[in-house]
Amino acid sequence: MSWFSGVQQGPPIEVFALTKQFTEDSFPQKVNLGVGAYRSDEGKPWVLPVVRIAEKALANDDSLNKEYLPVLGLEIFSSLSTKMLLGEDSPALTQNKAFGVQCLSGTGALRVGAEFLARKLEKTVFYFSKPTWGNHRLVFLSAGFQDAREYRYWNGETRGLDIDGFLEDLNNAPEGAVIILHACAHNPTGCDPTQEQWKQIASVIKDKKLFPFFDSAYQGFASGDLDKDAWAVRYFVTQGFELFCAQSYAKNFGLYNERTGNLSVVMNNPSEVPAVKSQITLTVRGMYSNPPSHGARIVSHVLSNKELYNQWRDNIKTMSSRIIEMRKRLREELERLGTPGSWNHITDQIGMFSYTGLNEAQSEHMVKKHHIYMLKSGRISMCGLTPSNVEYVAKSINETLST
Ligand code: LMR
Repeated sequence: MSWFSGVQQGPPIEVFALTKQFTEDSFPQKVNLGVGAYRSDEGKPWVLPVVRIAEKALANDDSLNKEYLPVLGLEIFSSLSTKMLLGEDSPALTQNKAFGVQCLSGTGALRVGAEFLARKLEKTVFYFSKPTWGNHRLVFLSAGFQDAREYRYWNGETRGLDIDGFLEDLNNAPEGAVIILHACAHNPTGCDPTQEQWKQIASVIKDKKLFPFFDSAYQGFASGDLDKDAWAVRYFVTQGFELFCAQSYAKNFGLYNERTGNLSVVMNNPSEVPAVKSQITLTVRGMYSNPPSHGARIVSHVLSNKELYNQWRDNIKTMSSRIIEMRKRLREELERLGTPGSWNHITDQIGMFSYTGLNEAQSEHMVKKHHIYMLKSGRISMCGLTPSNVEYVAKSINETLST
């Protein structure tokens, strides 16, 4: 007999299955444009130089030990993270209306926030953009939400934001629904609302009494500027919203496997903060008790040292400039080859990803024929594109669309 005989085979996680396939592929010109992870010009994983410096300093600091962190994590880390998001002089901080919780990267922050909302505020309905990052749905359903709904976001014909559909869907949402919003550099479309559009979005969310839950996985990647990339969240705060924001250091610090993130909580009533903190403490305690320290110490070390902070901003610039450069090169190559279709969206889009417009069959053809690994949705990770592979990728897209 087996307890497990009724267990059905689950579907693979597309983005990680692709990475595995890529690793096992022996084709010399293979390219991984699947997972959103930065590669050096030579196509190798890149540890940010400032992270190496911080790690050396930490290794030599004998005062550090392996004792448990508090349940809500390293205090300095969460307060620096929330400050980075809301801005040094944010009234939410000076009035003690905001705090941070160290979490297991952006995913963990989403999960902790969603658990709290589902179990303590009894929220059941959440909305995510169509399309969105492949994990939002699973995280919220796993946390106890029951009703997953989409709001329109991407217009495939104009290859831009469907703002009317977006606002209409928000207008029809039931009071209290949780709305997942990408703070900047929307994944997977690379298309963000303008500031004017954010204002319209905020106004409907306020009128309809919806709860905004931002996902900020790419601060620094949209514009290369940390403050500019936090504009939407800060705007909502100035409008008096209570909100959650999940922050990830996977991309902007390259700390993918350190699982380093923060949940920023912004509330209206400072006297309610201790109760909310105590309930989030129980939420975390029941899931993983307390978070790991290494990534949080690296981030705190860098954010609290002016010189290292500036170096980090330079490291972000290195990544974001290479991405912008590759967008230009890819578009130029595609146009030079006379590839069917228009390619201005490649340079119009921002952040780590580009929604190429390739359909599922074409994306699969890219994998099978050209060993260029990309998601079925046509999403490519721009940070896997390098000076040494951009021509090959363009040629392959051209072949795929010309046959
Ligand atoms: C991605 O979108 O490629 C990354 O955020 C990796 C992941 O966890 O999906």
